[in-house]
Amino acid sequence: MHEGAPVNPWVALAYLVAGICFILALRGLSSPASSRRGNRLGMLGMAIAVVTTLITHEIASPIELGAAIAIGGAIGFVTARRIAMTAMPQLVAAFHSLVGMAAVLVAAAAFLNPGAFGILGADGEILSVSRIEMGLGVAIGAITFSGSVIAFLKLNGNMSGKPILLPGRHVINLGVLAGILGLIAYFVTDQSPWVFWTVTALSFVIGFLLIVPIGGADMPVVVSMLNSYSGWAAAAMGFTLHNSAMIITGALVGSSGAILSYIMCRAMNRSFLSVIAGGFGATDGGGAAGQAIDRPWKRGSAEDAAFLMSQAEQVIIVPGYGMAVAQAQHALREMADKLKEHGVRVKYAIHPVAGRMPGHMNVLLAEANVPYDEVFELEDINSEFAQTDVAFVIGANDVTNPAAKTDKSSPIYGMPVLDVEKAKTVLFIKRSMGGVGYAGVDNELFYRDNTMMLLADAKKMVEEIVKSLD
Ligand code: TAP
Repeated sequence: MHEGAPVNPWVALAYLVAGICFILALRGLSSPASSRRGNRLGMLGMAIAVVTTLITHEIASPIELGAAIAIGGAIGFVTARRIAMTAMPQLVAAFHSLVGMAAVLVAAAAFLNPGAFGILGADGEILSVSRIEMGLGVAIGAITFSGSVIAFLKLNGNMSGKPILLPGRHVINLGVLAGILGLIAYFVTDQSPWVFWTVTALSFVIGFLLIVPIGGADMPVVVSMLNSYSGWAAAAMGFTLHNSAMIITGALVGSSGAILSYIMCRAMNRSFLSVIAGGFGATDGGGAAGQAIDRPWKRGSAEDAAFLMSQAEQVIIVPGYGMAVAQAQHALREMADKLKEHGVRVKYAIHPVAGRMPGHMNVLLAEANVPYDEVFELEDINSEFAQTDVAFVIGANDVTNPAAKTDKSSPIYGMPVLDVEKAKTVLFIKRSMGGVGYAGVDNELFYRDNTMMLLADAKKMVEEIVKSLD
């Protein structure tokens, strides 16, 4: 696998072109309008990198390699076609775990057979620099693997989304981390197998310990953080394999994942350190957690909603996870078209963590061909609710909850929320008064004088509103 000889300039050029494609892909993914182009560029870059690697390396067993690519490709293809949009976060976590495991296996292969990787020095020992690369690679890979498995189990509902807090966890975590770094440093002087395998085992343990105490509300940050780790694990593999395309790709994924984590932390008003340290959202959510407040509330019908909205000057639609569950985006687009025929101005307000993954709502609205210029981010539209006749909340809950602004005991306290309660009327679609959002807390908005609850499946309710608008 190791090139040994000086790098062929054509290979270097091909990897450079692949790297440029990846950078342009990330650029494209920054806006829904250009995201398809971005995806295609990413696929092109990956094809260039893989084909270049295959034709410039001596492959011991083309049949085995071909079979592995065919099996892996087929599993990826079928999974991608079948996966529901709502299950995307756990799929991403599962894929991150594979990158982590790949990094562990590459480092282990290089450790067991250093000659094949061209990392032996003149004294027959593994080069010092390669020992550091290998130690870091196996550590980041193992942390990514076990952390991603826990994130998958939590997001998939196989494990409670509640934080699991071990006593003295900060001390244990710091101790294990210090142990891993100390052993990697020791590995430079002593390449005994026990050092390598202890680093590997401790790293699997710390990945588990780091993610277990993190509560559901902080999972979005965890997923993007693991995305970043998987990038650094791939970059470490690139060093071991002397493959510059892998180093570039890994560094791009690692840094973009880190930037995304930072943006998500800001969107949820969390400090990055407190998320990593774990246990955020560990309270039981204060008095209102998970139980409906026994207070009067107003129930409305599709006809009421149609009448109120057709009389409005402006309606702001606030989509959330429930819209994704009900797959109501196409009906919603039809409703917006009808409202526009009535002379109503329609806008969409997107909270950065609405749904279950970054950009979840944007993807669904784009699928329904909602014009991009009607879709606004929280900071661009929040001041408009006060001058809006109707806020139409469809399957969103936590991202509208005013408790985030006022109730210090709430697990979502401090998260910026959409100020829907400032609109003249709030129409709120959900299936029952008992159902709660992701953070498991009740929403005081349901009981306000200007709120009308539309209790039904989001798609059915919107279809009925469309009929009433006719
Ligand atoms: P949530 O707070 O989860 O609320 C979803 C609402 O949709 C619930 O009120 C639920 O009530 C309703 N619902 C579910 N199925 C429905 C259906 N078929 N028809 C109508 N309503 C339905 O959603 P949100 O406001 O979008 O907030 C997102 C939450 O997820 C945040 O807490 C965020 O931190 C977390 N999170 C986000 C991400 C990312 S990156 N976006 C990832 C992981 C977690 P009923 O059950 O009564 O219908």
